[in-house]
Amino acid sequence: MIEIEQLKQQLKKINAEAAKIRELAVEKRAEYGRQINAQRQEVLGKIAQAQKALLDVDAEPIDVTAWSGVNEPLPEFYKTALGSAHPLMSELERVCEIYQLMGFDVVEARQLDDEFHMFDALNFPKEHPARDGYDTFRTEEGLIPPAHTSTMQHRVLKDYRKQLEETGRLAVVVPGRVYRNEDVDATHEHTFYQCEGVYVSRDCNMGQMLGILREFFEKYYEQKLNIRTQPGYFPFTEPSLEFMIEKPRGLGGKKGDFLEMLGCGMIHPNVLKMAGIDPEKYHGFAWGGGIDRLVMLRYGLSDVRMFEGGNLNFLREF
Ligand code: DAH
Repeated sequence: MIEIEQLKQQLKKINAEAAKIRELAVEKRAEYGRQINAQRQEVLGKIAQAQKALLDVDAEPIDVTAWSGVNEPLPEFYKTALGSAHPLMSELERVCEIYQLMGFDVVEARQLDDEFHMFDALNFPKEHPARDGYDTFRTEEGLIPPAHTSTMQHRVLKDYRKQLEETGRLAVVVPGRVYRNEDVDATHEHTFYQCEGVYVSRDCNMGQMLGILREFFEKYYEQKLNIRTQPGYFPFTEPSLEFMIEKPRGLGGKKGDFLEMLGCGMIHPNVLKMAGIDPEKYHGFAWGGGIDRLVMLRYGLSDVRMFEGGNLNFLREF
């Protein structure tokens, strides 16, 4: 179509040139007329040909659904950038792999949950102010995009109860996408990733939990780390701790800089009971922490908004 339009423009120009014949001396007019006519015939011929090609059903078909590379030469950009996993996804995979090597199963979290799993199953008393800290979004139907991966605890405890009875042990990590009603800035996002851990056995204790967490962080940052804990409060664990690591070397950290990486504690007996596990017979510990934070520290990134920002220059760095 474009070609025909261009030819018609050419024809217009030729016709305009033809009108100039009147300005020429009489003896020159015949030759000029012949030339103009030849040009006009040539363009008319091309137009006819192009119009015929449009109707030609045997012509090479163009697959309009295909990636541009099939119908045209590839733009240089596509030759070098075929796309890759998002940095958070490849890091999440690494996180899960480390836990899997320690014997944990991986269960994916859901992106829509309900009041029961968000609050009741986690021992949040009705009307308790602790609920406000997890004030998140809701759909018109009353469903909740979860504010933390702990919403999966009840399901994991229930689903693995049989295995717990048979083997005396339950060990699961739950990576997931979570949402919070945050004012977004360099260290806060409304959408981010967490990984939850749940462990239950007859005789587990806090020391084992800290051992697992230390092992995880040392594997992830590939170096020995100093860890520290301080008391915390979560309705679903008792006692509850905040777990910190000293900033890993090589990432611009000063000695003595401790960063909070996750919340953890011994699973509250009510949480076990609600999932049908007898707290007289079994003990458990659980933890949950942000993945974005973890990855930022590993790569020395200072702005969490890069992850959801879709800036290709940033994404291609990985
Ligand atoms: N879900 C908590 C949060 O996002 C973190 C957490 C604390 C998870 C204690 C746990 C836990 O499993 O036992 O703030």
